[in-house]
Amino acid sequence: MNNATKNNKFSILISDWYHVNGREHLPWRKQVTPYRIWISEIMLQQTQVQTVIPFFKRFIRKYPNLKSLSVASEDEILALWTGLGFYRRAKNIYKTKEIIKHDYKNIFPKKYEELVALPGIGKSTAGAIMSLAYQESYPILDANVKRVIARFKNIERDEKKLWKLSEKLTPNNNIFAYTQGIMDLGATTCSVREPECQSCPIVKICNSAFHTSVQNPKKNKEKLVKKINFTLAHSKKSFLLFKKEEKTFWESLWVPFDNKDSKKDIIFKKPNKTEIKNINHALSHLNLDITIEICEYSAPFKVKTNLIHRWVSKDDINNYGLPKPIKTIIENYV
Ligand code: ADE
Repeated sequence: MNNATKNNKFSILISDWYHVNGREHLPWRKQVTPYRIWISEIMLQQTQVQTVIPFFKRFIRKYPNLKSLSVASEDEILALWTGLGFYRRAKNIYKTKEIIKHDYKNIFPKKYEELVALPGIGKSTAGAIMSLAYQESYPILDANVKRVIARFKNIERDEKKLWKLSEKLTPNNNIFAYTQGIMDLGATTCSVREPECQSCPIVKICNSAFHTSVQNPKKNKEKLVKKINFTLAHSKKSFLLFKKEEKTFWESLWVPFDNKDSKKDIIFKKPNKTEIKNINHALSHLNLDITIEICEYSAPFKVKTNLIHRWVSKDDINNYGLPKPIKTIIENYV
C-alpha cells in the first residue's frame, strides 16, 4: 500500500515515545501472533482495554491458537463472551475461524484483501492486524487515532480526510511501535477530556497544542426502555433455556422462556414454588427492564415446542453463551 519511504517526524516521535511510555505490558503485545492480535482487536473494537484484559486472558487460556479454536462451537465461543457485550463479535469470530479452517487450511491469512473480507474485520482492524502481526505498513483509524490526527492537523473529523491523513502519516519502518503508540497516545496523553499537551511527544508540531478542541461530551440520549418478561423453569439442578433466534440484541444466546412467545407453544405445569425477580440492564442502545418469574419444579419435564431449547445443568452453564444478568440470576439466586 505504501510504496514511498515515509518516515515523517510525526511517526518517529510517536514510535520513540511508545518505547518509553507505551503500554507494552498489555497481554496481546507479548507473544505476538496473528491469531492473538485478531482476537484482541475484535474484543477491543467496542470495549475499553481494562475490561478486555481478563476476557482476552480467559479466551487465550481456553483457545491458545487457531487449531484449538477450530473445533469450538458457536456456543462455546459465546460462553466466553458473557459480560463483554456486543455478542455479534463472538459470532463473527466463529464464522471467521470456520472460513480460515475451510479456505485457508487453518493458517491465518496474510494479505490485507483476505483479512478485510472476513466477518467482523473492517479496514481499521485489518490494518491493525497487518501492522501488528505482520509488521507491514497499513494505516488504522479507530476513535483514538481519529482524535490524535484531527488535533494534530486541527481539522474537523471527516472520515475520508482522516483516512487519507492516516495513510500519509503511517511510516514504513517501526510500524508495530507506531501503531501501538498512536493508539496509546490517544488513550492516554491525548485523551478526550483532559489532553496533557505538556507531556505529548508531538507537542512541537501539533496544530492544536494547548488549545485542543474538546469534543462536546456525548449528551446522554434518553434510551428506550424495553420490558421483557421471562419464565425461568428450573429443578434446582437444571434450567430450561431457549436459544434466542431473533436478530436483535442477544441473538444466539440462551435465555429463559420469553413470555412474548406466548404460551402457544409451550405449556408450563403448575410449579412447586414461584418467585419474581426484577432486574434493569443497560445495553448500548436500550435499557432492559426484565421481570423473571422463577418457577421451581421437582424434576425437568418434557417440553413440546419448535423453539430450540435445552435443560442445562448448573455445572454446565459456563459452556453456554448467556447474557450476564441471566447468568447472575442463575448463579446467585436460584
Ligand atoms: N484499541 C484497539 N486496538 C488496541 C490495541 N492493540 N491496544 C490498545 N488499545 C487498542
